[in-house]
Amino acid sequence: MKHCLFFLGKNQEISLSELKNLGIKDLKSFTKNLAYGVYSHKIDLKKFHNQLGGVIKTSQIIDTLINFEEAADRIINELSKNHKKGKLIYGINIHSRDDSKKNRKSLDILLADIKKGLRKHKISGRYLNKRGQNVNNIIAAESLNKKKAKIYDIIEVEEDGQKKFLLAISIAYQNVDKYALRDYNKPFRDAKAGMLPPKLAQTLINLATGFDEAEDRSNKTIYDPFCGSGTILMEGLIDGYNVIGSDISENMVEGSKQNIDFIIEKMNLTQDTNTIKKNIFLHNAIEKFPESLKCDAIATETYLGEAFGKAPTLDQIEEQNKKLKKLYIAFFKNIAEKLKKGTPVVVTFPFYKGKTRSISLSGIIPEIEKLGYMNIELSEEFATLRYIRPDQIVGREIYKFIKL
Ligand SMILES: C[S@@+](CC[C@H](N)C(=O)[O-])C[C@H]1O[C@@H](n2cnc3c(N)ncnc32)[C@H](O)[C@@H]1O
Repeated sequence: MKHCLFFLGKNQEISLSELKNLGIKDLKSFTKNLAYGVYSHKIDLKKFHNQLGGVIKTSQIIDTLINFEEAADRIINELSKNHKKGKLIYGINIHSRDDSKKNRKSLDILLADIKKGLRKHKISGRYLNKRGQNVNNIIAAESLNKKKAKIYDIIEVEEDGQKKFLLAISIAYQNVDKYALRDYNKPFRDAKAGMLPPKLAQTLINLATGFDEAEDRSNKTIYDPFCGSGTILMEGLIDGYNVIGSDISENMVEGSKQNIDFIIEKMNLTQDTNTIKKNIFLHNAIEKFPESLKCDAIATETYLGEAFGKAPTLDQIEEQNKKLKKLYIAFFKNIAEKLKKGTPVVVTFPFYKGKTRSISLSGIIPEIEKLGYMNIELSEEFATLRYIRPDQIVGREIYKFIKL
């Protein structure tokens, strides 16, 4: 059992829901971007972290300190106990509610004390912090991976009215280069179909599958029936799953295939490109699905409707929603015939951001439930999980269903 700190991505609710779905227990938010949780799976924590879409960094708590002053000795002890030879590279981050000037000063004093302490142990060390600053995430991630640097976090928390400091060591950071590679460098992109960020695609898969202890996932199949350029398929492959995709547009089907080729090659994945590409086909989701179709989970960003150049009127939204609802209901009805009992279906539906309020697709959940599904609550605080970028008019609402 490991006590962990999860540094959350921009959308805290989605990140928390992902962690909960993946079996992290006793989840508790300290701040908007920082959550505590207990990890008790067998697989390596770093490997677990790498499949999360919504967590920027995972750290493991190694101690609770009553006074901040204890931190220097505790960190020197940690750094020196396993050190064999060579220069030690480390970094310290302080997360506290104190004003930043005081924080900066405390950090500088701590770094100087640690350096002095290490010298006493005849260890030469170099810290990654710039004066008075926490370590930059990109530098920390690179140093952790390439130079085996040790990055510590000290987090001020209050429990039963008493101030305490959690001391944690960083286990893994999100690999920004690898996300950039599959987001911006993939050969096929289509701005009109929308740009599903790979991290969100990864989260949708996690919300669908839940925690999977299996080392080998190649016998589990994720299906995306509105696959577009194949973002969900690519993330599914990276996470080791078998994938199937379909789309109404031939251009998209071809584009997805190109992206599959690209990701299998660039990320040295073990799945066979030709077999996967055969499983990407042209299909209208309102029509009967192929007899042979079999899958263990559906994760999809459905068609979100026609793009509006400027903020739509209420009438336009109503008209669009009517058409979309028809499409979604027809899809759920059709696919029901192909799904085993218990198959998870994670979908995104659109919502519109108005000046004064947001408008969702109303009344669709009970209609889907009538078709033999159960809606699963993904968020404790809100009725739905929402994702929208500041410049967007149309956002995505995430829903999970289980086939009954
Ligand atoms: C929002 S996009 C999905 C984008 C995708 N997640 C990606 O990574 O590019 C929705 C996709 O649904 C497809 N689509 C629209 N109507 C459809 C239908 N009736 N059946 C199947 N696909 C459909 C569109 O061609 C489009 O590629």
